[in-house]
Amino acid sequence: MRQHVNPLSRFFQIESELPQPSELFENHSLPIHLDLGCARGRFLLNMASAHRNWNYIGFDIRETLVVSAEEERNQLNLDNLKFLFCNVNVSLDPWLSRIKSNSVKIVSIQFPDPWFKMRHKKRRVLNSSLLFSLAKNLDEGSKLFLQTDILDVMEGMNNFIDASNFFERKDNDKKLFSMDNPFPFSTEREKYVIKKAKPVYRQIYFRNSIKV
Ligand SMILES: C[S@@+](CC[C@H](N)C(=O)[O-])C[C@H]1O[C@@H](n2cnc3c(N)ncnc32)[C@H](O)[C@@H]1O
Repeated sequence: MRQHVNPLSRFFQIESELPQPSELFENHSLPIHLDLGCARGRFLLNMASAHRNWNYIGFDIRETLVVSAEEERNQLNLDNLKFLFCNVNVSLDPWLSRIKSNSVKIVSIQFPDPWFKMRHKKRRVLNSSLLFSLAKNLDEGSKLFLQTDILDVMEGMNNFIDASNFFERKDNDKKLFSMDNPFPFSTEREKYVIKKAKPVYRQIYFRNSIKV
């Protein structure tokens, strides 16, 4: 069992100064895919190797995982991928506000920590500030991809996003969430869940034209 970190602790409330895409990538005009809570980064390592016409950034609040992911990225010489250590609930909004707004085309949140207990729900990654920040900074048509094995987490995210009115679902099936993974690679957690024959709930949203 891995250790959770408490994103609400004082230490994790300090904004990390994240570099601009121009400092991160050889070709910084490529579209960007952000993976929030990327852990050890295997999904993005595969994606970045297979799709050299995209830039990828993985964010995680556990520094040791980010360091290991970065080591592997270096060994693979991937100049279209970067892993950054931060609390996305604190550092993503100021970073998104500073970069060229139309460069981020996909944001994924995959198997976010469920934080089951009611008093811990405020630690969930997709909260109102993060959603508002994505609405504010993503262009019309940008995608928000979600997957989890916990139905309560998926329904919570769905209700929340639907209520915001800034994103629309690809399909209107509110119950099933049974779409296939649109990406050719799985995350570590996804592989584990599939091996255990547990269900995976997925949903894709598109940023609509409603102005913030
Ligand atoms: C259950 S793991 C899933 C990892 C990966 N997405 C996968 O599917 O295999 C959730 C990840 O989100 C990270 N995380 C949780 N809260 C975060 C936050 N506020 N900012 C950045 N990362 C966070 C955790 O450290 C953890 O690595």
